[in-house]
Amino acid sequence: MEKIYIKNSEVNKSEILIENDLSKNIDDFLDINKCFFITNSTIAKLYPEILYKFNDKKIIIIKDGEKYKNYKTCNYILNKLLEEKIERNDCIVAFGGGVVGDIAGYCASVILRGVKFIQIPTTLLAMCDSSIGGKTGYNTSFGKNLIGTFYLADKVLIDPMFLNTLDDYNYKCGLGEVLKYAFIEKSCKCEKFYNLEDILTVNQTKDVKNEMVKIIACCVSLKANVVSLDKSENNLRKILNFGHTFAHAFETYLKYKKISHGEAVSYGIKCASKLSYEMKKIDDNYYNKINFLIDKFSLTNKKLKFKKQKILELMMYDKKVQNKKINLLLPVAPLEVELFDNIDLLLLEASLP
Ligand SMILES: NC(=O)c1ccc[n+]([C@@H]2O[C@H](COP(=O)([O-])OP(=O)(O)OC[C@H]3O[C@@H](n4cnc5c(N)ncnc54)[C@H](O)[C@@H]3O)[C@@H](O)[C@H]2O)c1
Repeated sequence: MEKIYIKNSEVNKSEILIENDLSKNIDDFLDINKCFFITNSTIAKLYPEILYKFNDKKIIIIKDGEKYKNYKTCNYILNKLLEEKIERNDCIVAFGGGVVGDIAGYCASVILRGVKFIQIPTTLLAMCDSSIGGKTGYNTSFGKNLIGTFYLADKVLIDPMFLNTLDDYNYKCGLGEVLKYAFIEKSCKCEKFYNLEDILTVNQTKDVKNEMVKIIACCVSLKANVVSLDKSENNLRKILNFGHTFAHAFETYLKYKKISHGEAVSYGIKCASKLSYEMKKIDDNYYNKINFLIDKFSLTNKKLKFKKQKILELMMYDKKVQNKKINLLLPVAPLEVELFDNIDLLLLEASLP
């Protein structure tokens, strides 16, 4: 079993366990009688054998979808928890993808001023990214994740076997983030070098499911290190957004249809690399390597054509914009990225699809 820890302070720490079939013995890792279990309607149908272990009255099932990641759903959960008389030493368990994890984490952080919180992520994105690092929240009409808290899960129990039921679209969503970690590994300042890029390159096929424990453990270790060094996204944590300034603009332009978030991130990484190459920050060798890996996983196979001016306008909404200047993370050496604020807009435009 892989065990990874995040520690921000003596009281604020998180234990992350990764193993195939770990969920079969879920009772070994949590006190079922003390747990309130939050999941969505899709996952509840797929995994009745997990729900069955919990007390019916303490199971809260929410509707499936990003559009339900809102105040109403949180309010519904909080009322249910109060109705069932949740106590300070009870625990909230999130069983699902990033949406369930973010909402359940938010509820755990505010109810009775905070109760224990455990995540059991079921998507690749949630296993590698959203269940790690303590960001919780929900969407409002003003934008995504604008209300939220930083609240580390006490435990994250990762069982890659849940990926067997995940569809291709959501699998690619996670893979895009995995590739992101591969290209920022050195910037994550981990003592150990995992060489995620190599693990992904050496494997001959696109299907890396048999390597999943290793791959997820790499991503989790990298994020855990970054988060331990920068809990509230002051500085280092920004590197986790590599490819995302482009990606968010592409997703908004396409109205969140046509491509998954992971594919958008992959297009974003390609644009950032092209720009960096044109700015002479990286050589042909590394530029080709980045493109090879993204192509290997077929993450940018769709023929996309954008009105470039519109994409530039959308990029100005990025949270890293300062003094009306776009700040972009660009690769500067193998597996290293840096934040730039002096971007030549003509070169930027030329890097877009
Ligand atoms: N907190 C963070 O640090 C952080 C980081 C990245 C993303 N996020 C958030 O995560 C969310 C996206 O997460 P996501 O991609 O997991 O989406 P999601 O939670 O909506 O899950 C995607 C779909 O897959 C289904 N699903 C989940 N597990 C399954 C399984 N094992 N088998 C079959 N179907 C399954 C879900 O029901 C859903 O329909 C966004 O709201 C985003 O803002 C948060």
